[in-house]
Amino acid sequence: MLHALFTEKYSPKKLDDVIGNDDGRKEMKTWALEFERNKIQKPLLIYGPPGIGKTSAVRALAREMEWTLVETNASDVRDPESLRKAIGENSRGLFNQRRLILLDEIDGAFDRGEDTELTRVLKENQQPIILTANDIWDKHLANIRPLCKQIEFKKVNTRGIADLLQRIVTAEQLKVEKSSVDVIAKGCGGDVRSALIDLQSGANDSGSRDREANVFEAVRIVFKTSEYTKSIAASENLDIDLDLFTKWIEENVPIEYELSEDKAKAFAWLAKSDIMQGRIRERQYWGLLRYVRAYSHGGVSLSKKEMYRKFTPYQFPSLLRVLSASKGKRSVLKSICNKIGNKMHCSSAKVIENLFLMANEELSTWAELDEDEAKLLKNFSIAGNEFKPDKDKKRKYKE
Ligand SMILES: Nc1ncnc2c1ncn2[C@@H]1O[C@H](COP(=O)(O)OP(=O)(O)OP(=O)(O)O)[C@@H](O)[C@H]1O
Ligand SMILES: [Mg+2]
Repeated sequence: MLHALFTEKYSPKKLDDVIGNDDGRKEMKTWALEFERNKIQKPLLIYGPPGIGKTSAVRALAREMEWTLVETNASDVRDPESLRKAIGENSRGLFNQRRLILLDEIDGAFDRGEDTELTRVLKENQQPIILTANDIWDKHLANIRPLCKQIEFKKVNTRGIADLLQRIVTAEQLKVEKSSVDVIAKGCGGDVRSALIDLQSGANDSGSRDREANVFEAVRIVFKTSEYTKSIAASENLDIDLDLFTKWIEENVPIEYELSEDKAKAFAWLAKSDIMQGRIRERQYWGLLRYVRAYSHGGVSLSKKEMYRKFTPYQFPSLLRVLSASKGKRSVLKSICNKIGNKMHCSSAKVIENLFLMANEELSTWAELDEDEAKLLKNFSIAGNEFKPDKDKKRKYKE
C-alpha cells in the first residue's frame, strides 16, 4: 500500500506489539488460555481513555489465539435479536474455531434500560466475550460492571510512545528530528492514536496554509490530494463546522470515486469518523476532533488507488444529510424555519426548500434569530453563496 494512515499501517499485530499496559495484556492472555483449557471465564471489561490500545489489544489477542473475532457495534448490542445473532449462542465458528466476541465502546451503547438481554448473555454465555469502555463509571454500565472481570488500561508512557514513533520515522524514512518526536510523544497525553496522527500530520508537511475558505475548494482538495497533511488541513479555514463539512465529503464520494474499492474504503473511514463525532457530541470529548479530521479527510483522501483526473461538479449535501448531522441541529433548524415562515407568511416546509438560496446575515437579523439559530443559518448561507455555477471552476482544477 502506497498511502496509509499510520494508525492502520502500524497497528499492533501481536499482543506484544501493544505498548504499555503490560499487566493488563498479561491478564488478557491468561484469561484466554483458561478458555483453551475449557475453563469458562467471566467476560472481560477493558476500560480506559481513548487511543491507548484497548481495541487493538483485543484484535491482537484474537489473532494470537487463532480465534475468530466477532465485532459488534452499539446498535447490535442494544437490539436483543441482533445481539443473539452476533453471539450465536455458544456456537463455535467455521472449522470449529473458538469465537471471541468484542462488544466495543459499550459505554456509548445504551440510553436506558436496554441492557436486559446483554446482562442475560453476560451471565449465561460460555464463550469469550470482551467489552471495552472509556468510562467505567458510566451509569448505564451499573448492571454490567459486576458481571465482568475488569481490566484497567492506562495512558501509555511517553518513552514507549517516543520509541514507537521513532521506529516509524526510520521505517518511513521521514525527515523528522528526534526532538520533534519527543515533543509529539510528550504532547499527546498518553494517547497513542493521537501521537500517530500528529506524526503523520507533521511528517509530510508541505502545503501552504493560506487557502481561501471555500467549501468546494476544500472538498476538491480532500478528493484530489494523496497527501495526508494537505487533506486534513483542507477544512481548516472554512466557516462551516466540521460536522457539516463531512456531510459534503459523504455526499461526493460516490460522485468522485469510481472504483468500488475506493468508494468502500472511503465510506468505511466516514463511518469511523461518524462514530467519533457521536462520541464528541454525547460525551463532549473535544479532543477527538482531530480523529474526525484524520478519518473523514485523511482516510477519504488515501482511499483512492489513484487520483481521478477529471473535473467533478461537487454537490451540496442533501438536506437529509445536513439534518442527520445531529438531533440538536434539527430542532434549531425547525425553529429557524418557523420564525422565518411566520415573518414571511409561508409554511416552514417552503422555507426549508429555499433556505440554501435565501440564507444570509440580513435574513438572520430580520427574522430575529438567536445566537444558535444564526450560527446554523450561516452554514447554509456560506454553502448558498458558493453554489453559483462557475465556468472558471473547470479551468481552476489542476494538480
Ligand atoms: N498501546 C498501543 N500500542 C501501539 N499502538 C497503539 C496503542 N494504542 C493505540 N495504538 C494505535 O492507535 C490506534 C487506535 O488504538 P485503539 O483503537 O486500540 O484505541 P482504543 O484504546 O480502543 O481507543 P478508543 O477508546 O477510542 O476506542 C491503533 O490502530 C494503533 O495504531
Ligand atoms: Mg476502541
